[in-house]
Amino acid sequence: MPTPHNTANPGDIAETILLPGDPLRAQKLAQTYFEDPVQFNSVRNMHGYTGLYKGKRISVMGTGMGMPSIGIYTYELIHEYGVKNLIRIGSCGAINRQVRIGDILIAQGACTDSNYAYQYDLHGTFSAIASYDLLRRAVLSADEHGFPYAVGNILSTDIFYKEKPLWKDWAKMGCLGVEMETYALYCNAVRAAYAAEGSDPDTEIPVNPHADVKALGIFTVSDSLVTGEATTPEERQNKFTDMMEVALDVASQL
Ligand code: HPA
Repeated sequence: MPTPHNTANPGDIAETILLPGDPLRAQKLAQTYFEDPVQFNSVRNMHGYTGLYKGKRISVMGTGMGMPSIGIYTYELIHEYGVKNLIRIGSCGAINRQVRIGDILIAQGACTDSNYAYQYDLHGTFSAIASYDLLRRAVLSADEHGFPYAVGNILSTDIFYKEKPLWKDWAKMGCLGVEMETYALYCNAVRAAYAAEGSDPDTEIPVNPHADVKALGIFTVSDSLVTGEATTPEERQNKFTDMMEVALDVASQL
C-alpha cells in the first residue's frame, strides 16, 4: 500500500533493493545500470526505481541520512512492499589506520550510540549483524574483482558534528568505520525476520511472514578520521563504482 513516504503500489518494488543515502545516486545507478528503469517514488525527492540488471529485477531507492530516515523507508519496504533483500550502499569514514580511502568496507556488524533498539525493550545491548548470506556473497564478489576491502564492525552514529572525538572509543573496540544508518537497517531486517508485526512479544513461538528478510551494508571509505584525509567529489564517484558493482553482483544472485 502507498504510504506517506512512498507512493509505490504493491508489486512495483523488487524483492531486492539497493539503498544509497543520496536519492540522486539512486537515480544515477538506475540510469547507468538498469535496463528499462521505472520510477516508483518521488515523494520528498526520495527517488526509487525498478529495472532489470543482467535479466534480474532489482530496485534502488534513496534512504536519506541517519537512522530515523532509513528506519522509516526500510520498515515500509519490508512490511508494506514485501522487500526481502536490503543492501545499503553508502559512504563511511575510516576510524582504523589500516582502512584506506577508496577501500570497500563491508559491515559484518554495526554498533551504535543511538537508542533505535530501545523500542524492543531489551534488557541489554543488542549486537546488530549483517545477513551472513549477503555478507559472504559480497566478500566473494570483492575478491573476484580484486577490489581492496575490509570486513568488520562499524559505528552507526546519530551525530555527525561532534563536540568530542568519540569515534576513538569505538576504534578501541575494533570498529573500522563510522556512518549513520546501518544499525537501524539491521534492526529492522532482523526484527521482521524473527518477530512479525502483530506477533505476541511474549510468545516463544516464531510466527513470521517475513522470515527471509536479509540486510547488508557496504561502504566506500570516503574520508579518514584517523588521518584527516578526504576524497574529492571525482574520486568519490569513481570509487563508488567498485562498491556498486559488488552490490549489483550480490543483488543479481538473489
Ligand atoms: N561520520 C559519519 N558518517 C560519515 C562519515 C563520518 O565521518 N563519513 C562518511 N559518512
